[in-house]
This record gives sequence, C-alpha cells and structure tokens, in this order.
Amino acid sequence: MRSDKINIDWDKLGFNPIKTRSMYFANCSLNGRWNKGGLVPYGNIELSPAAGVLNYGQGVFEGTKAFNTYNNNIALFRIDKNAKRMAWSTKRLCIPQMDIDFFVNAVKVTVQDNSDYIPPYGKGSLYIRPIVWGTAPALGVKAVSEYTFVVFVSPVGPYFKGGIKPLNLKIETNYHRAAPRGIGNAKAIGNYSASLYPLVMAKKEGYDEVIYLDSIDGEMIEELGSANIFICKDGTIKTPKLSGSILDGVTRDSVIKIASDLLDINVEQTDIHIKEMLEADEVFCTGTAVTITPVGKITHNNQVFEFGNGMGPIAKKCKKVLTGIQRQELDDPFGWLHFVD
Ligand SMILES: Cc1ncc(COP(=O)(O)O)c(C=O)c1O
Repeated sequence: MRSDKINIDWDKLGFNPIKTRSMYFANCSLNGRWNKGGLVPYGNIELSPAAGVLNYGQGVFEGTKAFNTYNNNIALFRIDKNAKRMAWSTKRLCIPQMDIDFFVNAVKVTVQDNSDYIPPYGKGSLYIRPIVWGTAPALGVKAVSEYTFVVFVSPVGPYFKGGIKPLNLKIETNYHRAAPRGIGNAKAIGNYSASLYPLVMAKKEGYDEVIYLDSIDGEMIEELGSANIFICKDGTIKTPKLSGSILDGVTRDSVIKIASDLLDINVEQTDIHIKEMLEADEVFCTGTAVTITPVGKITHNNQVFEFGNGMGPIAKKCKKVLTGIQRQELDDPFGWLHFVD
C-alpha cells in the first residue's frame, strides 16, 4: 500500500474521472508488435491534429474493474474476456492486435501501482480503461502507421445518478446505435459518439438512458448505449442474441452463466420484440459500470410501462451471486477472478 494517497471520500464516489498516480503507455507501428511499454505519470497526451483517431475515429477501448475483496485481495474480474474483446475490436478497426498476455499484464501493472486508489471493500471499485488509438497523421482515409495504448484507472461508485434506483428508460425510435455488419459488436469509440445525441435528448426529457432497436425493422430490442438488457417472464430470462450489432458484454455473459449453471434458471438468447419486453415481469440491464441495475419504467411512443420500484427477484438473485463472486464473499466456481499482488 502506497503512503502518498490523496484524500478521497469513498462514500461520495460517482462515475467521473479522478486523477491517479500513473497510467500504462505503449506504442506500435501498423505492421509491428506492441513495444513493452510501461508506467508513466498520469497526464495529458500530445497529439497531431491529423491523428487517425481525431479525424477518422480509429480508436477502441475496454472497461473493467478491480475490487478490494472480502479476503483482502485485489481482484480483477474476467480480464481475459476483456482482452479477447480488445483483440476483436482492434482487428475490426485495423489497429495492430495485442496479445492477451500483453493486455492483461498492462492492466495488472497499472492496478498495482494505483492500488491505494481502489475503494475499500464494499465501497466501490477501481474502473480500468484500456484505450488504443491511431496516433500517426493521415489526410486521406486510411489505417495510420502508428498507434498508442494507454491504461488509466479511476475510483468509481454508481454509474447512474441516484445510485441503484430503478432506471427510467425510453425506447429510441428516431435513432439507431449500430447497423448489422457495422461496428456495433466492437468497443469502438464511434459507437459512443453515435449514442450521444439520443442520450442528451433523453436526459433532457428526464430519462436515464435509451433502449436501442434493431436498425432493419425497428421492432426488436438491442441494448442501451452503455449496457446490455435482459427481460424475465414466468421465471425465464431472455436477452437479445449477439446479432453482430450488440456488444458481447462480459456482465451479460456472466449473468447467463450464473443464471443457467448456478441458479438453475432457464436462459434464452434470442430476438426480443418490443411488445414482449413491455409485457415482462422484470427488466434489468447489465454492464461493468452498471453491474445489474433494474429498470423501473419504459416509455414507448409516449406510453409508460412500469416494472416496479425496486430490484425484481431474479435480478436480485443474479446480482447477489455476481457481486459475491467479484468480492470473494462466495466461491468462484468458474475461475473468473485474477489477482493482483
Ligand atoms: C454498448 C455497451 N453494451 C454493453 C456493455 C456491457 O458490457 P460489459 O458487461 O462488458 O461491461 C457496455 C459496457 O461497457 C457497452 O458500452
């Protein structure tokens, strides 16, 4: 444990960047391998105005968390799955792929050096943001010749304002987040810029987030701008299948495995029509940032559908197991935790 810790009120953490001690930094040329890289002081980065990332959005990122656990360990959750998704995202955007061990090591080294910024057990987590972008200048559209990889971290509390209160969502009928065979299943920065305008409009109207629909018929639900979605009806859980335009969420996959293998709940990955969601007993969303958050209300074409004021029984059971495994309050039967010394 480091002694030069800044003063953080762990009870007042939200989801905003807090400057920490250091970040990981590495470079790579288009046809080369990632150099070893290492820690540098947390700080601003100099960039050419013609950088590939600024002009053509050549950038992808990841999001994962480190926890101080019940057993006084520092745990990463399914970091290998983030590494694999990063490999896919980089490939899809013509960024040199980094191998799994390089990625995992960079995350571990960064967490280790900033371990005093991890909130105490039960008070939040250290959000980890690995990000990679095209650094070299380009005037015409192309995959540039040089790339930068950074891992920075920030202590965080709840993602949504108001903590874990049920979300008030709107079905977005005017805008889509991603198209089939586009980049919706990569964690590409452009997906998030596409979601900003609908999000800003929805927040102005008093909603927490929006639910996106498929961009062919606009009848099937896809996901939120920052999380996957689940519905429960008569004891069965359903979530939209990975069609290509939805992000393959680590939490989504974890909930599927927890529900089917540990809780003996029937889980289906399938197409879900808007109507089916609006008739569900429970709706909840999943993500590293949001964990498992219940949905209280959904508005569709000005009609409001209510799903209760708290967490439904199935979401509650899944969350108890998920957070129990993450914090070592429960056994880890899937071997999901990786420890940082
Ligand atoms: C668009 C989108 N969908 C789903 C998720 C959930 O993914 P994960 O559980 O890996 O955090 C995220 C979160 O980062 C996201 O940005």
